[in-house]
Amino acid sequence: MEKLVIEGGRPLSGTIRIQGAKNAALPILAACIMAEGTHRIQNVPDLLDIHVMLNILRSLGCQAELVDGTVTIDTAPMHSAHIPEHLMRQMRSSIFLMGPLLARFGEVHVYQPGGCAIGERKINLHLLGLEALGAEVQEQGNQIVCRSGGLIGNDIVLDFPSVGATENIMMAAARADGITMIHNAAREPEIQDLQNFLNAMGAEIYGAGTDTITVKGVKRLQPVTYSVIPDRIVTGTIMIAAAVTRGSVTLENTNPSHLTSAIHALRRAGVQITIDGDIMNVSCHTRPKAVERIVTSPHPAFPTDLQSQIMVLLSLADGLSIIKETIFEGRFKHVDELARMGADIRVDQTNAYIRGVPRLYGATVEATDLRAGAALVLAGLAARGITVVEQIHHIDRGYDRIEEMLGRLGANISRIDTAANAPVWGGGAADKLVSEA
Ligand code: UD1
Repeated sequence: MEKLVIEGGRPLSGTIRIQGAKNAALPILAACIMAEGTHRIQNVPDLLDIHVMLNILRSLGCQAELVDGTVTIDTAPMHSAHIPEHLMRQMRSSIFLMGPLLARFGEVHVYQPGGCAIGERKINLHLLGLEALGAEVQEQGNQIVCRSGGLIGNDIVLDFPSVGATENIMMAAARADGITMIHNAAREPEIQDLQNFLNAMGAEIYGAGTDTITVKGVKRLQPVTYSVIPDRIVTGTIMIAAAVTRGSVTLENTNPSHLTSAIHALRRAGVQITIDGDIMNVSCHTRPKAVERIVTSPHPAFPTDLQSQIMVLLSLADGLSIIKETIFEGRFKHVDELARMGADIRVDQTNAYIRGVPRLYGATVEATDLRAGAALVLAGLAARGITVVEQIHHIDRGYDRIEEMLGRLGANISRIDTAANAPVWGGGAADKLVSEA
């Protein structure tokens, strides 16, 4: 079982290039199956979730490989529209294949998806959207079967601007007969990236990034070469890492316009951020200030995927901050772990009240989900002493070798394999752990 061992207290410094966005790459890889032939998708991060998606695509008959950040995928040999249950359970994003499979085969067999334990995470909006396009949906126990004799464009109003449902409906509608309008659509940057990708393949989609998306169905799509946008959540995580360690980091290959609300929140906390095109410099040399209230909401508001990370910064701030989580009901699991490190946080339903402490202390903590795990790594970087983060497979779902990324910025962080009892990467912090034990 692998763990991260961190010796905190070193200010991060240096320059880092941000990886491609997992949440953009996953629907794009799913959408590849809508055009027969060979695609090349560039700037794809080397992550567990990406490998699960590639395994699912292979199980459907595609040939797919990830080499040096480029996925080459040949969708011509596809022979199945049945996603195996064990793969479906490994990753919620497997649900993205519903729209594309329905569009290509007129049929799809899936199971209730898995994913982070951050809340109920229903898929009713995905299914209602596909039904509105003419699919017949049958739920038999855990299995969901959708069939259609030909999808037909329609006007769809989402009850909530769900990212995944917006993407699934966009993909299915791209090859439907006629025009689809998606009202109350999600506006996340990953949806714009999916629109750009689908349009590069020959689709006719307008309005992604606004709350109304128009999809004019086309008969055929062509395979393409496409490069995925930078990961705004990894960008935000590194920005907060720079701030909590009172360091100074330059981030390259970013899109600051995707992070407007996070940048605003960090500046309110006293973090200095300068922006020059796609390069940002982030530094913080004094104790952060409390932020009266941060509310997570659909884009362009503060992203739920950065909530746990900014909580670490506010745990160290001068004064009382409040975070309200409105997207996922189970997204405060990192609070108990941060408390073990000395944080003073009280949770009342969807609100977290964070009274800043002068410092955190190293402890053994457990990553309960992807972003909670990232937050614990940030806490470990800021803390006095040694922090051990367990259950790091969650972190590997979204960060491409987080210890190497942070190690290059001067962090003392190692990955150890407790079964082999040896460092997998790094060694400094791990050696210290052994010598202190
Ligand atoms: C995506 C992101 C995830 C991010 C989330 C919110 C990917 C791969 N994942 O997840 O990192 O945290 O957006 O920004 O892009 N809901 C329903 N019914 C549905 C679908 C969603 O009630 O059919 C609810 C969910 O339970 C949740 C809220 O809507 O409370 C937001 O979910 P959604 O926007 O769909 O998130 P995901 O696409 O799952």
